Amino acid sequence: MNAVRILPDVEALSRAAAREFVELSRAAVAARGRFAVALAGGSTPRRIYELLAEPEHHDQVDWPRVELFWGDERPVPPEHPDSNYGMAAAALLTKVDLRPERIHRIQAERPDRKAAACDYQVEIARVLGARPDGSPPVFDLILLGMGADGHTASLFPDTEALREQHCHVVANYVPKLGSERITLTFPIINRASDILIVVAGAEKARTLRAVLEGPRAVERLPSQLLRPVAGRLTWLIDWAAASALTASGGA
Ligand code: 6PG
Repeated sequence: MNAVRILPDVEALSRAAAREFVELSRAAVAARGRFAVALAGGSTPRRIYELLAEPEHHDQVDWPRVELFWGDERPVPPEHPDSNYGMAAAALLTKVDLRPERIHRIQAERPDRKAAACDYQVEIARVLGARPDGSPPVFDLILLGMGADGHTASLFPDTEALREQHCHVVANYVPKLGSERITLTFPIINRASDILIVVAGAEKARTLRAVLEGPRAVERLPSQLLRPVAGRLTWLIDWAAASALTASGGA
């Protein structure tokens, strides 16, 4: 089931995402005693993480029961300014009572990123109680963003990882960046109970229209490959990013 929610601005979008995080965490802990979530990188989610650290949201999450993962990581150490882990650590991790052993960082700084990706797949399976070589384990929530080129996580247009049907985590060389990132793949992303993708800014409006309303062109628009197997996909979009959508009456 797909849903598109349009919010006035980034702050409203971030508040809506923080509320979703809280609600999904409470439901998961009530049902399974833990909340397994993969965080998004980039810049849009920072405000979401900051809000989660504020009392209004912080006090509603059972942080010691959160199993925290990432959807992707850049090939840098955690202290590097480009690190997705580092961004979340500054905005959230240092402000809430997460158990250190339940923070599962992608070690994308390792020279052998293929081995690091395989190790992360094993870690996910161990924590979520699945076989590493079996069907993709089910995250309670995978938080994603979308780039202006239609990528999500580190699943960039015309890259190898888009076609990956077996591995749940891969090292993916991105020619336009000239670097290799580690990313979850669509088989495990689409198995999540909930996928929440946050998209803000006018610079994404044309791509968002192509992704949501245009013809299927998955190599060029990887976000079109987001198709939940049994869960929910919710697009949280601000007015600026929704401005080209015909359904929203945008320009
Ligand atoms: C990353 C993210 C990436 C991000 C999009 C949008 O590592 O960069 O995983 O997929 O979500 O590029 O980034 P912004 O939120 O900065 O626009």
